[in-house]
Amino acid sequence: MTSQVRGVQLARLLGQWHALPGRRRSPDYAALAAAVRGLLADGRLPLGVRLPAERDLAEALRISRTTVTAAYRELRETGHLASRRGAGSWTMLPGTHRVASTGLWTPLDDRDMIDLGVAALSAPAQLVPAARAAAEDLPRYLGGAGYHPTGIIELREAVARAYTERGLPTSPEQIMVTSGTQHALDLVLRLALSPGGGVLVESPTYPNALAALSARRARITTHGLAADGDGWDADLLLGSIRQTRPKLAYVIPEFHNPTGHLMAADLRERLVGAAHAAGTDLIVDESFVDLPLDGTPLPPPVATFDRHSRVISIGGMSKPYWGGLRIGWVRASAPQVQRLAAARVGVDMASPVLDQLVAVHLLAQGPGIVADRRIQLAAQRDALVAAMADRLPDWRVTVPRGGVTLWVELDGPISSALARAAEEVGVRLAPGPRFGLDGTLERFLRLPFTLPAADLVEAVGRLAAVRYDLDRTGRPQWREPSVIA
Ligand SMILES: Cc1ncc(COP(=O)(O)O)c(C=O)c1O
Repeated sequence: MTSQVRGVQLARLLGQWHALPGRRRSPDYAALAAAVRGLLADGRLPLGVRLPAERDLAEALRISRTTVTAAYRELRETGHLASRRGAGSWTMLPGTHRVASTGLWTPLDDRDMIDLGVAALSAPAQLVPAARAAAEDLPRYLGGAGYHPTGIIELREAVARAYTERGLPTSPEQIMVTSGTQHALDLVLRLALSPGGGVLVESPTYPNALAALSARRARITTHGLAADGDGWDADLLLGSIRQTRPKLAYVIPEFHNPTGHLMAADLRERLVGAAHAAGTDLIVDESFVDLPLDGTPLPPPVATFDRHSRVISIGGMSKPYWGGLRIGWVRASAPQVQRLAAARVGVDMASPVLDQLVAVHLLAQGPGIVADRRIQLAAQRDALVAAMADRLPDWRVTVPRGGVTLWVELDGPISSALARAAEEVGVRLAPGPRFGLDGTLERFLRLPFTLPAADLVEAVGRLAAVRYDLDRTGRPQWREPSVIA
């Protein structure tokens, strides 16, 4: 059954729609339509719900019915509303939209939109030759059924070798190939967490990790990271593990998404010790481990300090190579890998052989590809930081020593309002609250530096313009005192 939102409910969600940033010059109907689109983009108004009848909404908003009619017409024209005479109007998104990894809606056809919602690079030039070489290799696998729940041996060997080269001796039996890091996380949660189980996460953290945890009905507690300095507060982090004894803790120690922090070696060691003492298993997301910038040395992998199979590391190809490859992995003890593989057959059986072969070819050229990525990312980061210092000097940034994101401290709790206003000028943002649990983090904004420098500079220019508009529309309007006579 289709759910319906009543006029008063939508009016409540719309809030101060007529005073939204950048709206002063637009007519009321356009402002109303833009506000509804904003609610859809933020996921606050679900897709497929029936909007109130025009008269009902007009009454709730105390505006004319003609304004609502015009707003609905515009929403239909932009593809955000479908109507059937006599039956009503439903929320939708234009046909070419998809859900981005941030949960924001990304139009595929809007070439002018600068998408800063997604923190991932486009594919390296080596991808097509790697895909061709993989196709040449494929006949070696065609004689079998093609199901390899832990992954093809060549890729498991390559991944194990990379861990060993990082100073963490690893055998292929300790590796399970997955369809991306997100898949790896989901599988580990399936195995290690029962509904209601406690999980400690950093705040802010990667939003899709929160989504995976919610899907498994985790009871989430957070450790707040500082935007600047070391990020983690060792005493607080270890103290909360000791006190709450969560079943799991999920951490991103290398160039944390979104803050870019790098966890120091001694905290890694103490974290593993505290987790073991508390009976907590650690899920260590190493998505960005290949992307130190400026020659930053990496501390030992967290699992180096593990003596009791407490640490499960996950990682993948998406950040250093390409997200579209959908190749990730788990590093755990060999028995844990077997249990994960058994759990996996109930989900997707195995990852595609061809894609795994492409990954093998890319990893074989890994050092060269990754070196180029680091140079590219450092240049883009510097261009973004310079543009912000120039155009938005009140925003504070700690320049990260790796990864792909800046965690920007804004000059007020404006992140969501800014994201809505930015959308209107063709910049898609992932506002701070996306990275937390409870609608906080409004003073923060994640800005990835994965797009070309020219796009980043252009985006900052557009953001500076709407930031100025936010002030103008946000300032209280002083009226002439009314005379009482
Ligand atoms: C910390 C973190 N983990 C996991 C993922 C998902 O990676 P994948 O594309 O390999 O599933 C991302 C992607 O942004 C990420 O930032």
